[in-house]
Amino acid sequence: DKILMAKQILSEFRLKNEELKEVMKRMQREMDRGLRLETHEEASVKMLPTYVCSTPEGSVCVLTEVGDFLALDLGGTNFRVMLVKVGEDEERSWKVETKNQMYSIPEDAMTGTAQMLFDYIAECMSNFLDKHHIKHKKLPLGFTFSFPVRHEDIDKGILLNWTKGFKASGAEGNNVVGLLRDAIKRRGDFEMDVVAMVNDTVATMISCYYEDRSCEVGMIVGTGCNACYMEEMRTVELVEGEQGRMCVNTEWGAFGNNGELEEFRLEYDRVVDETSINPGQQLYEKLISGKYMGELVRLVLMKLVNEDLLFNGEASELLKTGGSLETRYVSQMESDTGDRKQIYNVLSSLGVLPSELDCDIVRLVCESVSTRSAHMCAAGLAGVINLIRERRSEEALKITVGIDGSVYKLHPCFRDRFHKIVRDLTPHCEITFIQSEEGSGRGAALISAVACKMAASIL
Ligand code: BG6
Ligand code: GLC
Repeated sequence: DKILMAKQILSEFRLKNEELKEVMKRMQREMDRGLRLETHEEASVKMLPTYVCSTPEGSVCVLTEVGDFLALDLGGTNFRVMLVKVGEDEERSWKVETKNQMYSIPEDAMTGTAQMLFDYIAECMSNFLDKHHIKHKKLPLGFTFSFPVRHEDIDKGILLNWTKGFKASGAEGNNVVGLLRDAIKRRGDFEMDVVAMVNDTVATMISCYYEDRSCEVGMIVGTGCNACYMEEMRTVELVEGEQGRMCVNTEWGAFGNNGELEEFRLEYDRVVDETSINPGQQLYEKLISGKYMGELVRLVLMKLVNEDLLFNGEASELLKTGGSLETRYVSQMESDTGDRKQIYNVLSSLGVLPSELDCDIVRLVCESVSTRSAHMCAAGLAGVINLIRERRSEEALKITVGIDGSVYKLHPCFRDRFHKIVRDLTPHCEITFIQSEEGSGRGAALISAVACKMAASIL
């Protein structure tokens, strides 16, 4: 019967425990190669130093500055400008308040020139400052920039390559903070003191660190997928120094770019990659993140239609169109309580009229794709956590992971499936997961608060 045949086709998405362990091991090998000077260049996982450090006593950052900060968040679903007030409450613990405004980035700014993109960003900042009557103030700025950056310091680093939907020309290879400063200068209607640039994983980790001092890992499962963690300085060979720890942005989304995932990539994954704006890149990310999940589901549905297992062998024009099945629809369909209403609604919005059997098969497709995503991602995180445990040679590692991103937060089952496999693969580790709220704004501001103080004490 059709269900059985569909299940047969979908069985390719299931990863055995042994396979997940293999993915984890390969990820660890690449992370190790990324950290070492002699293999760094060729490693797919870049392990980028962030210059966010812990003190020798072990705390990641000691906040010393109160006041107003501006934060920018570029690279997730939304571009945001935020005003963050860092203060102290009665018990002298840190209190952070934010006001934020979302702006959509027009397609031509994402794929035009870097100057267009950064001029647009500066325009949004100007608009925000006007709105909050703070244009006259020269505020310290923390910039969450969610792409691979090779840092030279916390406020200086070049963009290695764009990922996700971005492609603005003239940015790769250039200092991102410089591009932003130039755009602000070109406008000339406000001033800003850019003190820190961080990846979104780092901002997420820092924002959770203030709630839980064991938070030494940050992860995003949203449009893209990535993780960072506190690594021993002595193993971060790209940076001199032996003491304490530095946060490393793994950029694990690029895992697989050297062929490490070939036997796990299916025909659908190859189509997703070939039709993306960065073929051959971010291959691990393309198995997992929200930018690709909906399209993967669509491609599998098309395969089942062509095998005459769905919709009487006939797809709508919309369903045939690349990108029409958004990842949030996958979440919606898996939220269905059993009456098939949600599935029916999504499918009819895509122009097909499904039978009950169609709905059940479509649900299986969604589950297969999103479960593989959760399991693949879990293998990566387990790799990071086991590596940390080895480094610290602790019998039992207690660690907290701060997480953000639309797939993690909005998909109804991703989280539980993901947690289960991470725990299965990390014996002798006690892991707490915390969801970050407004991670980028708070994280970027908190790091800026520290960076400001560092600059002041150097003076
Ligand atoms: C947001 C963070 O909440 O999550 C961003 O503030 C981050 O910095 C984003 O990039 C990731 O999720 P998504 O789903 O928006 O890509
Ligand atoms: C992409 C980016 C990475 C970011 C992640 C999540 O993988 O390269 O820097 O952290 O998306 O937004």
